Amino acid sequence: MKVVVAVLTLAWLGSAARAEGDAAKGEAKFKECAACHKLEAGANNVGPSLHGIFGRPAASLADFRYSPAMKRSAVTWTPETLDVFVTNPQAMIPANRMPYAGLANAADRSDLIAYLQKASK
Ligand code: HEC
Repeated sequence: MKVVVAVLTLAWLGSAARAEGDAAKGEAKFKECAACHKLEAGANNVGPSLHGIFGRPAASLADFRYSPAMKRSAVTWTPETLDVFVTNPQAMIPANRMPYAGLANAADRSDLIAYLQKASK
């Protein structure tokens, strides 16, 4: 019985860790974004700086030229909204100008978001 409980506990911990995302794996995934985005404050590139992205309304950096679609979107970036956006940017915000097809794998997205939650502060 004790063995069963231990195995179930390990399985539960494993899935919880999965839902949280693995920031180390996410750092590798961020290379896809780093072609266009920096994490330092004020460092815009092809895309806007992702410094402090969580809690930030979309299109809120004064020194980046956003698309009309991004400005109209009324999105606030949270782990949840970023997850939907990264899955398929054009589906969530049609006509936005981010040239990125999307990251279909849910585990890859949660790893990426776990990394961004640490690295964008
Ligand atoms: C080829 C360049 C490119 C790549 C790759 C790219 N982005 Fe972007 N990103 C942009 C551009 C350009 C915009 C502005 C889009 C607009 O104004 O419509 C943008 C906008 C964003 C925004 C909105 C920021 C804000 O200030 O509202 C987020 C969040 C974002 N990108 C996250 C990501 C993530 C996460 C990845 C990697 C999975 C990624 N991007 C990959 C170019 C890119």
